Amino acid sequence: MERRLALELLSRYVHKESLYRHCIATAAVMRETAAYLGQDQEEWETIGILHDIDFESIDEDMQRHGVEGYRILKEEGFDERIALPVRNHNDLLFGVSDEPVDRVLQAADNVSGLVIACALVKGGKISEVTTKSIQKKFKEKSFAAGCRREMVRRIEPLMDLPTFFGLALKGLTGVKDELGLE
Ligand SMILES: [Fe+2]
Repeated sequence: MERRLALELLSRYVHKESLYRHCIATAAVMRETAAYLGQDQEEWETIGILHDIDFESIDEDMQRHGVEGYRILKEEGFDERIALPVRNHNDLLFGVSDEPVDRVLQAADNVSGLVIACALVKGGKISEVTTKSIQKKFKEKSFAAGCRREMVRRIEPLMDLPTFFGLALKGLTGVKDELGLE
C-alpha cells in the first residue's frame, strides 16, 4: 500500500497528534530495518503506520488492543501479512514470536520513543543525536521510561543494538519534518 493511503486511513481512526507521530516514527524504523534485512520495505512501513490504528477506539482496554486493529484492517480488505503483525504486537495478549516482522515491530514500537526523546533533550534537533548517545540513554532506565528496553532487545537475534539504533536514527531523520524535529 502506498504510504499516503496508509496515512489517510490512519487519520480516519487516530486524531491525537502524538499518536499519529508515534505511528509515523515506528513506520520509519520499520522501513529502514526492512531494507537492512532484505524485507519488503513498503509492506513493513504500512504495518508500522497502522499498528496502533485501534488505539483511540479501545478506551484504554488493552485486552482489545491489536484485536480491534486486526478487525479494522480485515474489514478494510488488508491481508494477513499486514493484519496479523498488527494483532500480534500486543504482547500482553499474544506474547512474543520469532517471526522477524513481529520481533522488529515490537522493537521499533519501543525504540521510536527513545530516539525522539533523545532529540527533544537536544532542543528537537535530531541532527545532534548519535548512535552513541542513544546507546547511553538506553542504559539510563529512567530516561524515556515508557520505552520498554526488553522489547527493544528483542531485535538482538537479528542484529546488535548499535546497528538497530543506527537504523532507527536514519529512519527518523528521514521523517523529521513530519515529527516536528530538526
Ligand atoms: Fe505503538
